[in-house]
Amino acid sequence: MDKNESYRHLLTAARGLLKDEQDRIANLANLTALIKEQLGFFWVGFYEVKKNELVLGPFQGPVACTRIAKGKGVCGTSWAESRPITVKDVHEFPGHIACSPLSQSEIVVPIFVDGQVRYVLDIDSDRLATFDATDEEGLMALCEMITEAHPTWD
Ligand code: SME
Repeated sequence: MDKNESYRHLLTAARGLLKDEQDRIANLANLTALIKEQLGFFWVGFYEVKKNELVLGPFQGPVACTRIAKGKGVCGTSWAESRPITVKDVHEFPGHIACSPLSQSEIVVPIFVDGQVRYVLDIDSDRLATFDATDEEGLMALCEMITEAHPTWD
């Protein structure tokens, strides 16, 4: 299955999950499992904006950093700049936070509610240059789907 097809399957399955369940944590937890199983990445998880930092949410993969400050690392930069960030080699990203020495490349996509970033989706690969425009497009579509399914999150 090529990557485009994997994302088509992922988005169809995600739509099904989000339609059947309203609990946000349950949905985010299942989505991490779905992404990891469908695309086979090393680490997949959500960080939630709580007060002035990102706090680890549902994830699949090795133990990870629990708190990230705004503007720090790939996740904190994606939050501060309200945009997806794709990193082909994490060693070349200034301030990258290494939760695992095995991580080589990374993509982070923000999730918005009422125009504010409330979560980021973070995915790590243990290979260089794993993520490209297809991943960014597919994951942005997934994050938009999450926003639509959970328009108010408090
Ligand atoms: N590498 C991330 C930290 C989170 S872990 O990859 C799970 C960063 O630089 O923000």
